[in-house]
Amino acid sequence: MTKRNNSFIPALKFHRLTSLYDPVVRWTTRETTFKRFLVEQAELSPDQWGLDLACGTATLALLIKKMHFQSHIIGIDGDTQILRIALRKVSNSNEDISLHTGLSFELPYPNDIFSAVFSTLFFHHLTRENKRRTMHEVLRVLRPGAALYIADWGKAQNLLMRTTFLAVQLLDGFQTTADNVGGLLPTLLVDSGFIQVQELHRYMTLLGTISVYKALKAI
Ligand SMILES: C[S@@+](CC[C@H](N)C(=O)[O-])C[C@H]1O[C@@H](n2cnc3c(N)ncnc32)[C@H](O)[C@@H]1O
Repeated sequence: MTKRNNSFIPALKFHRLTSLYDPVVRWTTRETTFKRFLVEQAELSPDQWGLDLACGTATLALLIKKMHFQSHIIGIDGDTQILRIALRKVSNSNEDISLHTGLSFELPYPNDIFSAVFSTLFFHHLTRENKRRTMHEVLRVLRPGAALYIADWGKAQNLLMRTTFLAVQLLDGFQTTADNVGGLLPTLLVDSGFIQVQELHRYMTLLGTISVYKALKAI
């Protein structure tokens, strides 16, 4: 049996940099613009459940809650250190958001529970095998007909975007980021069983192209 890689890459690769994560992302990625666009795509009715997958410092989870305040929002991340920052932000906001520790390819949730799963700046942290394992897990926990919304590094729009993305690759590694910049996330989503996979938008940022994808679980 082949050994599975169940480790994870922290937000800025090294734990000693975690406290810098929020300002770095805010100033380099047009964070508010693409996260707001992502959340606007989702339909979440009151009392339905939404998941922020690999929530990091919970910036996205807080935005989801603000824009869908009658829904139940959970954030999950593999890193207890970054979750401490998330917990502080959630407590300060007085929002009712649950934060869990856990890995994307073994989610501690029952089948068919979430009406939307969101994930930002995350899939480029995973090997191809773990991207597939994660996509299968997301498909398992999504309700039939519900969607996964991803914003992550995608195929570069031009040479400038490809060149600036090298900074992300130098930090997070060339292996896990190759499928992203190769534009392969949609293909992997389809291979994993998602339907109607669409790239909804592309953003040019200081660190390369961020693509927004939507993928449905069949009814
Ligand atoms: C670049 S950060 C993105 C955080 C947040 N989603 C955002 O948009 O700011 C990537 C996050 O993925 C988490 N992570 C990496 N691999 C993971 C896995 N397999 N399962 C859960 N979390 C993981 C890291 O701990 C980190 O918080």
